[in-house]
Amino acid sequence: MKKLENLEQFKAWAKENAFIYPSSEIYGGFAAVYDYGHYGTLLKNNIQNAWIKSMVQDRNDVYILDSGIFMHPKTWVASGHVGGFSDVLVEDKKTHKRYRADHLIEEWFENKGEKVDMDKKTAEELADIIKTNNIKSPEGNDLTESRSFNLLVKSNMGTTDATFSDENVTYLRGETCQGIYLEYKNFVDTLRLKLPFGIAQVGKAFRNEIVARQFVFRTREFEQMEMQYFHKPEDKKELFEMWKQARMGWLVNELGISKENLRFKEHEKLIFYATAAFDIEYNFRTLGGFKEIEGIHDRGDYDLTQHAKFSGQTLDYFDQDTGTRLIPHIMETSVGLNRLVMMVLEEAYTEEDVVNAKGKKDIRIVLKIKKDLAPIKVAILPLSKKPELSAKSLEVQNILRKNFVTAYDETASIGKRYRRQDEVGTPYCVTVDFDTLNDNAVTVRDRDTMQQERINISELEAYLTEKFN
Ligand code: GAP
Repeated sequence: MKKLENLEQFKAWAKENAFIYPSSEIYGGFAAVYDYGHYGTLLKNNIQNAWIKSMVQDRNDVYILDSGIFMHPKTWVASGHVGGFSDVLVEDKKTHKRYRADHLIEEWFENKGEKVDMDKKTAEELADIIKTNNIKSPEGNDLTESRSFNLLVKSNMGTTDATFSDENVTYLRGETCQGIYLEYKNFVDTLRLKLPFGIAQVGKAFRNEIVARQFVFRTREFEQMEMQYFHKPEDKKELFEMWKQARMGWLVNELGISKENLRFKEHEKLIFYATAAFDIEYNFRTLGGFKEIEGIHDRGDYDLTQHAKFSGQTLDYFDQDTGTRLIPHIMETSVGLNRLVMMVLEEAYTEEDVVNAKGKKDIRIVLKIKKDLAPIKVAILPLSKKPELSAKSLEVQNILRKNFVTAYDETASIGKRYRRQDEVGTPYCVTVDFDTLNDNAVTVRDRDTMQQERINISELEAYLTEKFN
């Protein structure tokens, strides 16, 4: 069995099979933005729904929010993004890890026993030093040009001439969790929430990424599924472990990812406000190894403290049990939906050696995706284009489409149509043939075993429902 080998093959296959297209191709393309085709959108929605189900429907302590992409610009000052993301950065060309150019240079000289003063050096000066001294990344790889860099994507809002002035600058959100912090108080007040509780949100985030040549792994517009769990500080140890296990369990059980392709990685260097942070990494063959898909972060009381300070509002919580007030601490789980789509496709893509109908060796590409994540659940295929078969097939489709996402295909040979459905992961194909017109039965073919079963149309819906359960 063969798997996807590299990104070029992955991109071509995803486009060919209506999962993911590069953006704006008719204009020559637009870097680091991708569009999701019919199957890609259905798959992405299924993953998103599975996440919401596990967070909200399956629990009693997590609620859901849909906040605006635009927020008051002070949000991003309070969060530290406006000031904190303006360092001069360089990037390791191979690992794509970013480093503050001044720190890297200091370390480089320190290792040689020399001391240098990097204070207030411009991006050009730092670039010059890196070039002249042939400074490499800590992994020994070449570095990109250094430049002053803020990850936030700026925009302007308003309807007057002043719209494009600096006063009207606004930001496209750089992470969805900030919307959660801004609505925390409304959630507590209107839902009468008691600690601990979580708020979950799915939505777009935007970042001016420097290097964006990793397909949908790193794009400038992407979707995050974030959950912020508000709790008392003394519960953090237990909760951190609970969320780590819950998130790993979800990836294995709900997305069908094999355990050996996933691992936890503890952050060596913590971001200034975090007290503990782990990533969950997936072993992407097409990206050359384990890469982050999700972060589990203990953010302490940093976020609510900052927003209370910058907004002048009280964001503390009254604990009725003890009669005291506290700023809740926050545990975060943050996963990229697009990275999950990429992971699920890479994990499921399989090339099998088979013998075709003519007895010749052939390769079958089959997307062995979990049935409930499959974009199309059932494909209805008349054996030929004869009007009486088409009519009967559409009848069958109308019965099934009430409960299943279906597809109808009457082009090409039946063998080719089975293969098309295998390649996009459709678990069942229902074939309507001339016997159907007499016995009211159809052939149901299973994607994985390729076994076929004759089922009466009156029992078909129940039969398929049972299979999906
Ligand atoms: N609120 C915390 C936060 O945003 P992050 O590690 O910067 O943390 C969380 O992002 C997740 O969002 C990542 O694990 C990744 O799955 C996804 N993500 C981040 N940047 C991305 C990008 N440029 N393209 C696609 N996904 C991205």
